[in-house]
Amino acid sequence: MGTLIRGGTVVTASDVMKADVLIENGIVTHIGERILSIGHETIDASNCYLFPGGVDPHTHLDMPFGGTITADDFQTGTIAAAFGGTTTIVDFALHEKGSTLADSLRTWHAKAEGKAAIDYGFHMMVGDMREEVMNEIPAMVEKEGVMSFKVFMAYKNNLQVDDETLFRVLRMAGQNGALVQVHAENGDVIDVLVREALASGQTEPRYHALTRPPEAEGEATARAIRLAEIAGAPLYVVHVTCAHAADQISEARKRGLPIYGETCPQYLVCDYTDYERPGFEGAKYVMSPPLRDQWHQEVLWNKLKNMEMHVLGSDQCSFNYREQKELGLGDFTKIPNGAPTIEDRMSILYHFGVHEGRIGLSKFVALTSTNAAKLFGLYPQKGTIAVGSDADIVVWDPSAERTLSAETHHMNVDYNPFEGMKVSGLPRYVLLRGETIVNHDRFTGRPGMGQFVRGQRFSPVDL
Ligand code: URP
Ligand code: ZN
Ligand code: ZN
Ligand code: ZN
Repeated sequence: MGTLIRGGTVVTASDVMKADVLIENGIVTHIGERILSIGHETIDASNCYLFPGGVDPHTHLDMPFGGTITADDFQTGTIAAAFGGTTTIVDFALHEKGSTLADSLRTWHAKAEGKAAIDYGFHMMVGDMREEVMNEIPAMVEKEGVMSFKVFMAYKNNLQVDDETLFRVLRMAGQNGALVQVHAENGDVIDVLVREALASGQTEPRYHALTRPPEAEGEATARAIRLAEIAGAPLYVVHVTCAHAADQISEARKRGLPIYGETCPQYLVCDYTDYERPGFEGAKYVMSPPLRDQWHQEVLWNKLKNMEMHVLGSDQCSFNYREQKELGLGDFTKIPNGAPTIEDRMSILYHFGVHEGRIGLSKFVALTSTNAAKLFGLYPQKGTIAVGSDADIVVWDPSAERTLSAETHHMNVDYNPFEGMKVSGLPRYVLLRGETIVNHDRFTGRPGMGQFVRGQRFSPVDL
């Protein structure tokens, strides 16, 4: 016996159609009008959309940072993700300086196993690109199902790599079916500005933003694109915040290069003035790159609409305001970077995007699920509703409303960056491989039911 989802409107990145969906053994087996319900459990989806479960390709769970560790681990983080409609994450396994990629990956598997409530893959966040580390890349792709690697152009004296290293890793990845992701900010420039700010007593949270100007992001983005071009490699630019960087991606794509861009919900609805909140509240918004002046938001929305920006990742990286963000009282460089966004990623894009008329339904699906699945080698197992795909489905009620708040969210953290925002559109049911894991406001899944999904090697995709 299977499960029949009846009476909904199925939305994929290419179609919107009224149809029933039959699920057997965790897989979608029929999509059609009025499938007979005999012998099947039924889920009522009338007046609802059926979206493919969200694929969030940018999360940091159970990750050490600046002497502390993220507030959400694989259990709390993935349950919160499920409540928001996300059924797959690709988390960043942190490769620490001096260790091997293989060891770091083992550590990350151990963090997720038995805890993750949704499916997960891994990228690696590379701490140092020694020759031996670079030489591990082919085995990671072939044997481990890890096909993307993030390198840093910022965080000087820590994670930052020089241009030689970036160029070599791009070439190595390009030759091995891997995808390089860059954190594109000019870390040398930022380092000078930060030292000057601290020396003149500018220690409050807003100086985090003022010492990381959008030009530094635009410059690094342009440089990374040129290096990828010379290396003949594809490139994925994570967490794009501003026109300066986004325009570089558009320009490269006009020249036919396989360059892809990701932005995050916080950059669409929060802005620089959040750093000017009273007291130390601005610390809640300390993330890298920082929030920008409001005018950048419209640029980002237009890029999403025109598919010049391809993916909405959460960059979930949660630290409590009390005790953790407070490590940076008196010195903004000590504020752990990041924000809790895994749960509200899809709601933000649905409400401010679809509900307010900035993007259509299929674009919403492309940005929250399909494109990430394609770029990170998970498609068509993940990222769509199609016969043969995993039955990861969100029954989305467009008329349901919620006020986003730390009082009601499921993340294990004491604040919500979107506190007080009213959004329309919420999951009514969330299914992972055919099992209902969220039923209205109840979690009906199990920690540990999430499975590791292997990323297939990169092949250029038209998005
Ligand atoms: O501030 C952020 N984004 N923290 C997470 C690490 C990163 O650079 O993505
Ligand atoms: Zn049947
Ligand atoms: Zn980053
Ligand atoms: Zn990140």
